[in-house]
Amino acid sequence: MPVKPVARIESSEELNMCGIVGTVGKADATPILLEGLSRLEYRGYDSAGVAVVQDGKLCVEKAKGRLDNLRGRLKERPLGGTLGIGHTRWATHGEPSDVNSHPHTDVKGEIAVVHNGIIENYAQLKRFLEREGCAFVSSTDTEVIAHLINYYDKGDIRRAIEQALHRIEGSYALGIICQREPDTLYCVRKDSPLVVGLGEEQQFIASDIPAILSHTRDVYFLNDREIAVLKADGVAVYDAYGRRRTDLQPFHVDWDVASAEKGGYPHFMLKEIMEEPRALSETLRSHVDLTSLTIQQEGMPDAEEARALERVFIVACGTAYHAGVVGKYALEQLTGLSVTVDIASEYRYRPQKLGKGDLFLVISQSGETADTLAALREAKRQGAKVAAITNVVGSSVAREADRVLYTWAGPEIAVASTKAYITQLLLLTLLGVDLALKRGEMDEKAARELLREMQALPEKAQKTVETHERMQRFAARHFDLRHVFYIGRGMDWALAMEASLKLKEISYIFSEAYAAGELKHGTIALIEPGTLVVALCTQSALLEKMRSNIKEVRARGASVLCVQRESDGKAEADIADKTWFIPDAPDLLMPMLAVIPMQLLAYYMAVSKGCDVDKPRNLAKSVTVE
Ligand code: F6R
Repeated sequence: MPVKPVARIESSEELNMCGIVGTVGKADATPILLEGLSRLEYRGYDSAGVAVVQDGKLCVEKAKGRLDNLRGRLKERPLGGTLGIGHTRWATHGEPSDVNSHPHTDVKGEIAVVHNGIIENYAQLKRFLEREGCAFVSSTDTEVIAHLINYYDKGDIRRAIEQALHRIEGSYALGIICQREPDTLYCVRKDSPLVVGLGEEQQFIASDIPAILSHTRDVYFLNDREIAVLKADGVAVYDAYGRRRTDLQPFHVDWDVASAEKGGYPHFMLKEIMEEPRALSETLRSHVDLTSLTIQQEGMPDAEEARALERVFIVACGTAYHAGVVGKYALEQLTGLSVTVDIASEYRYRPQKLGKGDLFLVISQSGETADTLAALREAKRQGAKVAAITNVVGSSVAREADRVLYTWAGPEIAVASTKAYITQLLLLTLLGVDLALKRGEMDEKAARELLREMQALPEKAQKTVETHERMQRFAARHFDLRHVFYIGRGMDWALAMEASLKLKEISYIFSEAYAAGELKHGTIALIEPGTLVVALCTQSALLEKMRSNIKEVRARGASVLCVQRESDGKAEADIADKTWFIPDAPDLLMPMLAVIPMQLLAYYMAVSKGCDVDKPRNLAKSVTVE
């Protein structure tokens, strides 16, 4: 049966990287914090911590690893007090470690902060604060916030928070406590989710509803730049201009815990597809200075190395491998370099001789895939410098690679990879632009133009995910098919491979991806009346050829779903049975938009068949054995 997604809840749709919980009231804070953090465990994390004001003193306890490690420490050194904040960290700036775990404190150890998001100008702020005499203890971006609030603190914490926020660029959800105010919890957000839970004599904050659902079902979704001041008997919310809001409209949550974890969506996979626009913008923001439209250099090969390059090897598994195949087209087109893409389980038994002019790049969402790691180690054994694209800071791939480009997709929970793939494509394109610039294959004007187009992608992706209900109706009419073919040329063929994998892994419908020009060399024999052929037609130069291929398969009775850009007009609408229009972008960027309807198609086919979408049979999220 098709499942209708639940109403859109803005804050839950956004990327959830770290988990935040906070409380103030009559009850002991620590048990509430630990319970809340355990409700957020499903999203993945690498360390956890709490801060509580105990007998007028701010006390912090934190530990790398599972929440049980933190529980163990709190058993040895219990923290009592009715004001506290807690955090599960998904490492972004700095390795997972005790010291990098949140909460972070100011120099005096009187203000504690938990943070979800990215402070883009943290390096500048850190330099400024160091000049002012602040000694930093962690390598996180968050620590600057605690120091900055202290810097502006002249007795009014809310004012100090406002002033600090004026200096901060980036995204944040913050929980803040101060030892001289043991009855007040502050929080604020911008582009990162934060919800305030409203109770009788106890108030709460959380990055996601499940963390506080056992205490209250009445919540207020903070708007960007609003500051909430929580005390036992109530909550005051101030807008960005410091004016108190009197028109708060709390939301009553009637979901159970399981659907709350999914932000109200029936499955993590749909939630993660809906998060793609934001995953794209976070990844872009982290790798590009969007004011000057220049690429940040962290993780990129230096100019000398880029100029000396002769070959690129990309090695990965599954969806990450498919990202690599799209990346091959992008890199070859942008840089003129020859790019070889290999499945890691194949590469490890036929390693190539690598030399100085080679860039060896592995791609892995989890950073723990055994075959990818083995290929990485083999390349290093041969003396190659290895670059990695991964979503998990501190993962084995991240630790062992010589340089790392992080995707900022946030934790991916559904077994079928979606938002990680789209951000891998973005990074591969950025790498191509960076190399092309350094090798003189592209001038700065052209690079800026392409980066500007990339900046427009999240909005276009948003428009595309919003078509999901139409795809649900399409899938409801086709889910009983026995097989589906995907065809495309160039980058569309590379994308067809991923579209086909998505469908087969979650709906168990047999499907194949073919280079459209190859059909007539054998495969077209399989086309019979009623066969569904999905034709990806987003590459301008190959459009005419694809039109011929569509005619060929329709002449044999196939029913064709054609995916094409809006500007290519209605031609396919006349020759295909159904045309799916997607927003326009340069050819190089089209896979990042065209993949969305493909993921939605797979998702709704699987849902229509009643499959266990998030945990398909025989599959695991992370394949850590050969
Ligand atoms: C499919 C999927 C897998 C992974 C593959 C590699 O949806 O998720 O094919 O892409 O197992 O995993 P990572 O990227 O973690 O190395």
